[in-house]
Amino acid sequence: MRTDEIRERFLKFFEEKGHKRLPSSSLIPTDDPTLLFTNAGMVQFKKIFLGEIEFPHKRVTTVQKCVRAGGKHNDFERVGRTARHHTFFEMLGNFSFGDYFKKTAIELAWELITLHCGISPEVLWVSVYKDDDEAYRIWKREIGVKEERILKLGEEDNFWSMGETGPCGPCTEIIVDRGESAGCGKPTCGPTCDCDRYLEIWNLVFMEFNRTPSGKLEPLPRKCVDTGMGLERIASVLQGVNGNYEIDIMRDIMKSVEEISGKKYGEEEKSDVAMRVIVDHSRASAFLIADGILPSNEGRGYVLRKMLRRAVRFGRVLGIKEPFIWIVAEEVLKVMGNTYPELLESRDIIKESIRAEEERFRDTFERGLKIFYEQMENVKEEEFPAETAFTLYDTYGFPLEVTVELLQEHGKVLDLEKFNHLMERQRSLGKVSWKEEKDIYLRLKERGKKTLFTGYSSLREESDVVFISANGREKEFLAEGEEVEVIINPTPFYGEAGGQVGDRGILLWEEGEAEVEDAKKPVIDLIYLNVRIKKGILKKGQKVIAMVDKKRRKATAIHHTLTHLLHAGLRMVLGKHVRQMGSLVSPERLRFDFSHHRPLSEEEIEKIESLVNEWIGEGHPVIVEEKDYEFAIKEGAIALFEEKYGSVVRVIKIDEISKELCGGTHLKNTVEAQAFKILSQSSVQAGVRRVEAVGGEGAISYFHSIEKILKKLQSELHCHSEEVLLKIEEMSKRLKELEKENKSLRQKLLTGDERKFLERRELNG
Ligand code: SER
Repeated sequence: MRTDEIRERFLKFFEEKGHKRLPSSSLIPTDDPTLLFTNAGMVQFKKIFLGEIEFPHKRVTTVQKCVRAGGKHNDFERVGRTARHHTFFEMLGNFSFGDYFKKTAIELAWELITLHCGISPEVLWVSVYKDDDEAYRIWKREIGVKEERILKLGEEDNFWSMGETGPCGPCTEIIVDRGESAGCGKPTCGPTCDCDRYLEIWNLVFMEFNRTPSGKLEPLPRKCVDTGMGLERIASVLQGVNGNYEIDIMRDIMKSVEEISGKKYGEEEKSDVAMRVIVDHSRASAFLIADGILPSNEGRGYVLRKMLRRAVRFGRVLGIKEPFIWIVAEEVLKVMGNTYPELLESRDIIKESIRAEEERFRDTFERGLKIFYEQMENVKEEEFPAETAFTLYDTYGFPLEVTVELLQEHGKVLDLEKFNHLMERQRSLGKVSWKEEKDIYLRLKERGKKTLFTGYSSLREESDVVFISANGREKEFLAEGEEVEVIINPTPFYGEAGGQVGDRGILLWEEGEAEVEDAKKPVIDLIYLNVRIKKGILKKGQKVIAMVDKKRRKATAIHHTLTHLLHAGLRMVLGKHVRQMGSLVSPERLRFDFSHHRPLSEEEIEKIESLVNEWIGEGHPVIVEEKDYEFAIKEGAIALFEEKYGSVVRVIKIDEISKELCGGTHLKNTVEAQAFKILSQSSVQAGVRRVEAVGGEGAISYFHSIEKILKKLQSELHCHSEEVLLKIEEMSKRLKELEKENKSLRQKLLTGDERKFLERRELNG
């Protein structure tokens, strides 16, 4: 059965059992700071499990894009080493929100697996949580699984949690025995062995608790079910192939790696590991970029960067020196673009950013090679220093395999134990490392460093450079061409926060100039700038003139004030259940996510647009007040869940229309927004809608572009604008008639006498 068919059959099966089919959500969890990536099908339903959102469907089924490359569920290092692990994979799932529980969940899964997929119960094992007698009894009594095939396992294996906090509960897993030939052959090999023989294919979680930040388990308002089956794993079983990397959709991607490297998958374990890493990481990278992540030095972007570099390094194991992952990613788009059109929509950015990252890393890699050869000159003993091998790994991104191979060529050996020890030490430090170079700023904050933000009232400041850092390390000065992070005090630059993007601008000093490309606020009261030195040298302690790009700031303020008006408009037209779930405010446009269950109708959109445009025209002053937090809330200001407020907060008040707590920069009067237009609406995840809109000059140029299209249509169709639609309708009616006529003429031509005539003519000549 093709993987595409398995996807569809799964969804169909559950639809027939009364489940609502819903689309996958993004790999970036909306408004969930506890998660790095969407790591399971249940993530988009977290708020429903917790009882924070009411939802019209009690049974749901999805195929969810997942990434497990950071945080609690992290398979990064295992990918390549086994035939069953991925960083990116698809998860088939069915969910019950307070509807069926253990018995039905187990029965449904068993029916699908044994009856519809035809997997023999002879090869199946199950595991349950050691204290879950109910699940044990259902498997044994209701389903009839033999006692010796039911394993009782502990928390580590059979108690599932989404992250350090959030919904969780005991689970039961279905395991397929793939036969002796798939296993490690050790006498101890059994269903809990780590080799590829016993494959966990389906996890059924009985969601009963919410784990709070203090670690306490609180009962959920209602018992729920969350199941997840790895699509690639079930496909490997149903297609009868040797592991996930041989199923149809992976095979095509693998083929492109074979073509580039000239190696064959399945011939040699060392190349197989490399090939699996490359296939997996190319696929995951394409999906991450399509969901808006780019390689960078922090958070999600850092994971993506590590992933691409790991793939490049393994490319070296196969002897590939030129950028190639972007070519493999193209194949991913070919194979999966039909199912996930977002891949095709982001084709250019996927290709370009992967290629750029590969080229950038290639240079670092070359520098590493130089160090390697320098060491070779100096080391006369047979043993190569483990410290250097580790530096090559850690700083220059050399995989151990590459170093070992190079050493073999030169008749040298490596103290692997020492190397592993260094790795272990780094790994335990690295556990927190994705928590970003934010750490450096946390430490600064702890040392009492603060920046005074003056940008609410001033866009120009004379400031001191108080801190410079590059790649998470403090520096004393910067030279031309360098890209780094700089803290100046005071700072008029708004640091990205509350959905509003950071300011841009310039820094000037005697004989020097730097471009400020972004401003970030990693911790409260501390703003740093992403800076590129255009001219001169910038030192710590330097006095600079800091200037914010005024035009960009104004365009951003328009969209921020409009976000508040849109929020008010949505609540007025759709109801008071509308709550902000996330937003992006940039100079180009605004994006607003909010809780609501169905798409907005055309009338609703029109009503909201008219309301906001009316408020713009009426010229309401936008008043900023600083208030005590408790007092502001009592007065009815809307506080957004993701904001963390100090005791004194800013309240943005627009007459009787809107009152919100907000740290952003705004217009002085609504009239400055000029106009407001909603461009699109979409669904972000279950119960959350997204609206994109534009104001100010952006709205005006949008109207112009629409007008241009209309004018072009008028001139093509030779009519007035009011008649365009009528004309098109007439034309399409006429086209249909002609098509019909054409068809019948052709048929006529090919039947009866005419056909005989044609045949005769053909025979004659
Ligand atoms: N959330 C569970 C898992 O990821 C079941 O989907 O395994």
